[in-house]
Amino acid sequence: MKVQTHSLATPAVRSLEDGGRTVLFIGDCMDIIRHLPDNSIDLTITSPPYCIGKEYETSKSADDFVADHEIVLPEIVRITREGGSICWQVGYHVTDQTAAPLDYWVYSIMAKIKGVTLRNRIVWSFGHGLHSTARLSGRHEMILWFTKGQNYHFDLDSIRVAQKYPGKRHYKGPKKGELSGNPNGKNPGDVWEIPNVKGNHIEKTDHPCQFPVGLAERCVRAFCPADGIVFDPYMGSASSGVAAILNGRRFLGAEKNEKYEALARTRLMQAHAGTVPFRPSEQPIYVPTSRDAVARRPEHFREVFQ
Ligand SMILES: C[S@@+](CC[C@H](N)C(=O)[O-])C[C@H]1O[C@@H](n2cnc3c(N)ncnc32)[C@H](O)[C@@H]1O
Repeated sequence: MKVQTHSLATPAVRSLEDGGRTVLFIGDCMDIIRHLPDNSIDLTITSPPYCIGKEYETSKSADDFVADHEIVLPEIVRITREGGSICWQVGYHVTDQTAAPLDYWVYSIMAKIKGVTLRNRIVWSFGHGLHSTARLSGRHEMILWFTKGQNYHFDLDSIRVAQKYPGKRHYKGPKKGELSGNPNGKNPGDVWEIPNVKGNHIEKTDHPCQFPVGLAERCVRAFCPADGIVFDPYMGSASSGVAAILNGRRFLGAEKNEKYEALARTRLMQAHAGTVPFRPSEQPIYVPTSRDAVARRPEHFREVFQ
C-alpha cells in the first residue's frame, strides 16, 4: 500500500519508522509531532493557517498565530535531523488594510531556538491575485529556509536554472575570452517567480489555499537528501507530498480536516501512479503574444500599456 492513513499517532509513527513511503495522519498536527522521535525528519515544508478567517481557520487573530507557533516551532526543530531543513511558507496577516508580515513572527520565535540558522528569506512572487484599491496588490509571499546545524544538506546543482547570458565571457584577467558561466546553469537566487494556484491552474483542487507543487519541488530537491523524509504538518491538498513523491522522497503529512485529507490522499496516489497533474518548477512563465485575444489592447485602453 503506497499511501497509509491513520487517525492515531502511534500507528502513524510506526508506519513511518517501518519505512512507509507515504503516511498520512488525520488530526491536529501537534498530536503526531509530540510522538515523533528527535532528529527524525529531513525536511519540513509547510504553509500554516495565517489566522485570517479562511474556511479552515478558527481564528482571525495574529496573537493566536504567534501563540500556536510558540508551541509548534520548537517541536519542529526537535524532530528535524542535524543537517536537516525547515521551510516555513507564509504571507501577510491583513486586517482593515493593515498588513503584518507573518515571517517576522516566525523568525522572531526561531531566532530564540538554539541550533537553527536562517539561510534565506525566499520571496515567492506570482503574477495574479486580488486587485487592491487601498493598497498595492499583493504579489508575493515568503519562505523562510532554516537549517539545523551548520553541516546541512544543500544540493544546489539540482535546482540550477538557465543562464540569462550563456555566451558571456571573462573580459579581463588570466581567463579573458573564456566563457564565464556555469554550463549547468545558475543559482536560482532567492526570488522565485512561480504561478500561484488559481482557477485554471492544472493543479487546482477544491482546497482554497494550495501552494504550487513547483514551489515545494525546489525545496525538496535542494534541501532533502534522496529517499529522505519530508514532513508537512499542515498538509492541505498535499502539494509538498506530491513534490516529495515525484522526486523519490518519503512523505509524512498531517491534516485536521477530513475532506482535505481525502483530497490529499487522491493526489498522492496519483503521484505514486505517475498520473498526478502538476506544473514542473522549470516550466517557463507564459508570456502572452498578440495572437492571444485577451492580450490585445481594446481601442479605448491607454496606449502607454502596450
Ligand atoms: C494554508 S493550508 C495548507 C495548504 C497546502 N500547502 C496545500 O498546498 O494544499 C493550511 C492547512 O492546515 C490545516 N490545519 C489547520 N490547523 C491544523 C492543525 N492544527 N493540524 C493539522 N492541520 C491543520 C487546514 O485545514 C489547511 O488545510
